[in-house]
Amino acid sequence: MASPVNRRDWIKYSSLATLGLGFRIPSMGNEEGILKSYGAESGLVNLSSNENPYGISSKAREAVLSMLGETHRYQYNIGSLKTFKKELAGHLGVSDTQVLLTPGSGEALGLLARSYPNGNLVTAYPTFGILPTTAKKIGTEVIEVPLTAEKAHDLPAMLKAINSKTAMVYICNPANPSSTIVPPAALKAFCVEAAKKAVVVVDEAYIDFLDVPDNESMIGLIECNPNIMVVGTFSKIHAMAGLRVGYVIGHPSLMKPLEETYFMRAQFSMSVLSMTAAQASLKDPEHHKISKLKNEQARTYGYNELKKLNINCIPSYTNFLFFPLGNYAGNFAEDMLKQQIFLRSDIYGGEKWARASVGTMEEMQQFIKVMKATWKV
Ligand SMILES: Cc1ncc(COP(=O)(O)O)c(C=O)c1O
Repeated sequence: MASPVNRRDWIKYSSLATLGLGFRIPSMGNEEGILKSYGAESGLVNLSSNENPYGISSKAREAVLSMLGETHRYQYNIGSLKTFKKELAGHLGVSDTQVLLTPGSGEALGLLARSYPNGNLVTAYPTFGILPTTAKKIGTEVIEVPLTAEKAHDLPAMLKAINSKTAMVYICNPANPSSTIVPPAALKAFCVEAAKKAVVVVDEAYIDFLDVPDNESMIGLIECNPNIMVVGTFSKIHAMAGLRVGYVIGHPSLMKPLEETYFMRAQFSMSVLSMTAAQASLKDPEHHKISKLKNEQARTYGYNELKKLNINCIPSYTNFLFFPLGNYAGNFAEDMLKQQIFLRSDIYGGEKWARASVGTMEEMQQFIKVMKATWKV
């Protein structure tokens, strides 16, 4: 696990990284210690963080600009923002008492880990890191269930892993870093069963990249299954990673204690500009449609080109590609970084894997050009 980067290290890594040397790359799904702005100006193709490369909706951009004059105010004093939570709730088909806004869904995942310290956490391995990493840091036992050979969630094994001490089950669907999905019917059955014994958190960060019928949220289960919570974000299809808007959806019985330990009900943590952007972005489905389409085109290109190199990429349902590195000698991510491609690689259960975000078509072409020149396994 990478440790946070302090100022001295930051300077050291920045200068080394400029030379393409010595940059310590965090493992996949672990956002700690990453220098996100590193190298963008020096021609680096940044495929490290599953961002949406097409930028925010033009409607969001205009709304943010016109809100600049109101930024001396707290968001709860701005009339137009008072309806945001209701609008988001309406968009998701729930009531606003079921919504907790957080500055990014990573914040929500950390909050959830800290809110259930008594009892173990059952999750997949590998999975997105924030919730399990936070749980481990506060001393919670984390039971990690390996993915199947196809890199999908092993639902029967996860159900089996739940025991009398399990307080929470975390499942990321679509999955990061493996890019696979659990079909809605199977996921529903799993959530309902698991929720009889523990709180189930479904992380739907990448759900908007799915086509019908796979893009069915588990939010619909909450009313009859109060132990199920869903986490969502504006960082992916809405392209708002830098604006930090995330949320938790749950039954009021679970949301009330969660809210009361988190800035009370004032939603004090949310930025005026971020909420404004999210509010406008919700009204721009065309932006999401275009992002999704361009992502699909660039993803198909990347997947097919990796196949031509005999790389057995996992079929992706997301905005990133997950592929095995076989017996690649050395640190793949560091080697790619030396050639201006910033991605992640790691070792899981003794096997080397890489994760490359789907960038623009031009970025993917550059990535593939470098792969063609260097891939020798
Ligand atoms: C599965 C998953 N959940 C949550 C997050 C956190 O996103 P954010 O904090 O930007 O909302 C990410 C970020 O990559 C992710 O991959």
